[in-house]
Amino acid sequence: MRMRKKKWAMPFLQENPDFVLFDPEVNKGQWKSILGKDKLHIEIGCGKGDYFIEMAKREKDDAWLAIEKDYNCAAVAAKKALEDKPENALMIAKDAQDIGAWFAAKEVDFIHLNFSDPWPKSKNSKRRLSHSNFLQQYHKILSDDGQVILKTDNQKFFEFSLIEFTHSGFELVDVWVDFRKEDHPEDAITEYEAKFMALQQPIYRAIFAKVMI
Ligand SMILES: C[S@@+](CC[C@H](N)C(=O)[O-])C[C@H]1O[C@@H](n2cnc3c(N)ncnc32)[C@H](O)[C@@H]1O
Repeated sequence: MRMRKKKWAMPFLQENPDFVLFDPEVNKGQWKSILGKDKLHIEIGCGKGDYFIEMAKREKDDAWLAIEKDYNCAAVAAKKALEDKPENALMIAKDAQDIGAWFAAKEVDFIHLNFSDPWPKSKNSKRRLSHSNFLQQYHKILSDDGQVILKTDNQKFFEFSLIEFTHSGFELVDVWVDFRKEDHPEDAITEYEAKFMALQQPIYRAIFAKVMI
């Protein structure tokens, strides 16, 4: 569901240029040195930010970069994140459709897709963050041992993603059809995930590794 427009959102994002970036291309090839870390995680579609904020706190030795195209969500996430003044995280407030131009080849180690919009109608399939147009870009920017980690509540989106990844230079290395049935304290729960867990819905999760093509 779309978040209601917040008058303060855009001014807030613009008032925090050290944390929220609108022109990510300028940092291409320099993300790890800017954040002072050896491993770079990106979360595409971070929503209100619960996942990357928590993971950046837990995994302080890694860099975390969260991408969100909806300015209202991005502002809520940035406000929350800035309460902790994280040194190992940044945000990009922009549609990820040209993500391949924001990073040098092999610059990213992990891509997290959490509860991406499923876009159920096939006429909108290109908007899915696991469409092959996105996967080709992920493949280019991921390191040779890079991975994409995907969680969703949506079975159809999950099935689509499994096929799309295996046809786009990735192999499936791990899969869960009810991820939260067991405890997974190593992985933070997202805002959407908490809602689906409260409804007792299964959480699908897959890890895809880049393979050479
Ligand atoms: C269903 S919400 C999930 C939010 C969060 N990941 C969670 O699990 O709670 C999907 C989010 O992805 C964002 N999004 C979808 N497509 C995107 C794109 N191409 N670039 C950046 N953000 C995108 C949407 O604006 C929305 O905030």
